[in-house]
Amino acid sequence: MAAMISNLDAPLGAEVTGVDLSKPLPQGDVDAIEAAWRTRLVVVIRAQTLSDPELLAFSRRFGELDPPGPNPYGEPFNKAYPEINVISNVVENGRPIGGLGDGEAVWHADMTYMEVPPKAAILHALEVPPEGGNTYFADMFAAYEALPEALKDAAEGRVAVHDASRNSAGMLRRGYREVTDVRETVGARHPLVRTDRATGRKALFLGRRPNGYVTGMSIADSEALLDALWAHATQTRFTMCHRWRAGDVLMWNNLAVLHRRDAFDPETRRVMHRTQIRGNERIA
Ligand SMILES: [Fe+2]
Repeated sequence: MAAMISNLDAPLGAEVTGVDLSKPLPQGDVDAIEAAWRTRLVVVIRAQTLSDPELLAFSRRFGELDPPGPNPYGEPFNKAYPEINVISNVVENGRPIGGLGDGEAVWHADMTYMEVPPKAAILHALEVPPEGGNTYFADMFAAYEALPEALKDAAEGRVAVHDASRNSAGMLRRGYREVTDVRETVGARHPLVRTDRATGRKALFLGRRPNGYVTGMSIADSEALLDALWAHATQTRFTMCHRWRAGDVLMWNNLAVLHRRDAFDPETRRVMHRTQIRGNERIA
C-alpha cells in the first residue's frame, strides 16, 4: 500500500497514512511525504513504533542530520545516538533525561541562531501526558502574505539577530552569558523576510523573539517592529494545534513555520525523541 496524504482541517498540516516507518520506505512514499512537507509544512504520521536506529534511518531519507543544539547540561541526552535529541520532563536518578521540562515553550523556530538552520525537524512521541503539552504551528508564508502593507515595507530588507543564548524553554545554554543589551545579542543574523528557493514564495522568518534585535535600528524601533510582526504572525488564523498520542511522528518545515508548546502537569511523563535535517541554504 502506498502512502496516502490528506490535508488536516486547518490552514496547514497533512496526515500521512498507509506507511510503517520502521521499515525502509519505497522512494515514492518518501517523495510523497516530502511533497506534503513542502506544501502543507507539517506532516503527521500516527501509530508508529520506532527504535532510535529506525528513527535515524527514516530521518536520513530526507537529508543529512544536524546534531542537537547545546543543552544546559553539556553532554548529549542520548549518548548511544547523539544525533537524537530527547525532549522530556522526566528526571531519573536526579538528572533530566531530556530537555525543555514541563513548562510552556514560547513560539520559535529551531536553531535559527545558526547561520544555516535545520530545514526540518522530526519528533517521535514515545510517552505523552493524558492532557496538555499540545504543539502549535504557524504558517509563515500565510503570515507574510497577510501582512499589512506598512509592516511589509518595514520588514523588507531588514536583518535581525537570533539569540543563541537561551533554549526554547528559556533556559540559559551552557557557555552563554545573559543578554543585557539586545544590540550585543550573540547569534546568526537573518533577513526578516525569506524567499523560498523552490517556489519563490516569501515567508516571514522570525526565529525567536527573546533578545531579538533588528540591526541598524534604535532599540525602541526594533522592539516595536518585532512586537508587531510577532503579534501578526502568531494569530490563530495561521495556526494548527497538534494533540499528541504516543506513536506520533511529526515532521515540520522549520524554515516556514513557528511552533510553540503548552505546559503540562509536571506529575505526568512526556518523552519524545527528535532528529533534525540539515539545511542547505543560507536564509535569503
Ligand atoms: Fe522547538
